[in-house]
Amino acid sequence: SDVKLAPTQCVGPIYRAESQKPTATVSTEVQFDALTILPQTPQLIALLSIIRNKETQRGDFIFYSNRIIRLLVEEGLNHLPTVEHTVTTPVGRPYDGLVFQGKICGVSIMRAGEAMEQGLRECCRSVRIGKILIQRDEETAQPKLFYDKLPEDIADRWVLLLDPMLATGGSAIMAVEVLKSRGVPEDRILFLNVLASPEGIRNFATRFPKLRVVTAFVDQGLDASNYIIPGLGDFGDRYYTR
Ligand code: URA
Repeated sequence: SDVKLAPTQCVGPIYRAESQKPTATVSTEVQFDALTILPQTPQLIALLSIIRNKETQRGDFIFYSNRIIRLLVEEGLNHLPTVEHTVTTPVGRPYDGLVFQGKICGVSIMRAGEAMEQGLRECCRSVRIGKILIQRDEETAQPKLFYDKLPEDIADRWVLLLDPMLATGGSAIMAVEVLKSRGVPEDRILFLNVLASPEGIRNFATRFPKLRVVTAFVDQGLDASNYIIPGLGDFGDRYYTR
């Protein structure tokens, strides 16, 4: 199988001996070419420990999940194309650098994905942001598209798709189908995600092998109600309601 169960690892500053580092459960390893799991640093594990804790109140949940979201956006931007760009510094010397190539937009999967919009705006000034609302159809129990509002020129943009939780993958897959129906090629979509289940990642990445996914952590699995375990509960409820 491509999935190994979440390992417990020593996590600490690299200059410490292994025996002097605390251990923590780190992300499950899942092998997909297009999947990037954020480095399992002490910082990330500590932030995740706060937002996973059921005792964490809403103000702290928002603050610390925003920090993780910021890390995801910063890493996600590394997957966009750049071209060489030389600038002249105030002391008259050239600096051979880079400039991002192409236009981007964000698309949040409502409601929880909207929590990731601010992190994207902090990194990309005046970025266009669209929205997609997908909910379970009561009759068929399948995900159904209820609403979308997307930039008219979305087919010409790189799309950063935002959803903090990837459980079964049903909504994310439907969101990508909506984007593809508007002319966005799969390899110009980047999915930013806080917490994924191995089955969600597998469903999604098998369906869209060219679509890049950046996640902070692949968890153990899903429970009978399709909650991610150990997980953090309902992200939207914890972010948006008291
Ligand atoms: N959505 C959530 O908010 N939490 C889960 O565990 C799964 C999906």
